[in-house]
Amino acid sequence: MTRLVFEDLTVEQMHGMADGLLRAGQYDLAQKMYGALQTVTEGRRADVLVRKGIAASPHKRTPMLLDVLDALEAFRGTAYVSNGLATWNKILPFFYDPEFVALAARHAGLLPIPNWHWNLQTVAWAVRQAEHVPGDFVELGVFRGHTTLFTAEYVGFGAWPKTWWLYDTFEGIPQDQLDAGWDKVNQGTYGGGAFSFEEVRDRFAGFGNIRVIKGRVPEILTEAAPERIAFLHMDLNNATAEVAALDALFDRLSPGGVIVFDDYCWMASRAQHEAEKAWFAARGLEILPLPTGQGVFVKGA
Ligand SMILES: C[S@@+](CC[C@H](N)C(=O)[O-])C[C@H]1O[C@@H](n2cnc3c(N)ncnc32)[C@H](O)[C@@H]1O
Repeated sequence: MTRLVFEDLTVEQMHGMADGLLRAGQYDLAQKMYGALQTVTEGRRADVLVRKGIAASPHKRTPMLLDVLDALEAFRGTAYVSNGLATWNKILPFFYDPEFVALAARHAGLLPIPNWHWNLQTVAWAVRQAEHVPGDFVELGVFRGHTTLFTAEYVGFGAWPKTWWLYDTFEGIPQDQLDAGWDKVNQGTYGGGAFSFEEVRDRFAGFGNIRVIKGRVPEILTEAAPERIAFLHMDLNNATAEVAALDALFDRLSPGGVIVFDDYCWMASRAQHEAEKAWFAARGLEILPLPTGQGVFVKGA
């Protein structure tokens, strides 16, 4: 293809071209143009990064996300859209952190959802809160390792005197734990060898303090689990296993320890929401629901 040179275009014209390419489904080219704009349009950082993120993970709802962005045109410079989350007139701290932006972009391909910054920010916050709390870190439900890899690199976890224990069947949600309506996602996203233990183990090979464990929750927890826990990322996409994990691990959570529930407020995960809300209510406790779809709990003294 002929080499294109854009030196005579104004920044505004480049924005228009990039937006047109994105609308036309030319995601690779749109991503490249937003990548170039990222360095020259300081005042429109959110516009550029949000659209670059959408271009990086196209899926069937991409046109809808672009419609939402168009509807928020009056809030240019602050509008943020991801799957199930739109914000405007809000500070987007992650976009002003070059390390965060670079790492989120580098690992975006590990998750089939565009723009996961708000969710990653929650986990990064929780992990930092838990840095000096006694105990190790746990993730239940790893998939390709997206959240933990991003967070571990972002906080420099390799140098922390803690171990991060990662558990997954690496075969999707067990059939007997499936909540209603999850069969299609289970087969489509996690089935058919979409990911493997070996792939994820190799992804974390650079961290001497991250253990990848193949097994089914809760049973595997009786074979290998930390005695004290400072941070737990709960992301099994089913109520049965998550409640069983709470039964098994909650007493090991140190005072000041944090649990982030990845699915607590997603409509598709209503069974998890109801079961976990009831589990905490029975103990006089409450999970904080977040518009990201997550829930957060911090254990008191
Ligand atoms: C939403 S994905 C996890 C996403 C991951 N936390 C990330 O950041 O990309 C849910 C994972 O939970 C795993 N899973 C579901 N039920 C499980 C169980 N009972 N035991 C172990 N893994 C399970 C699935 O195999 C799937 O990989």
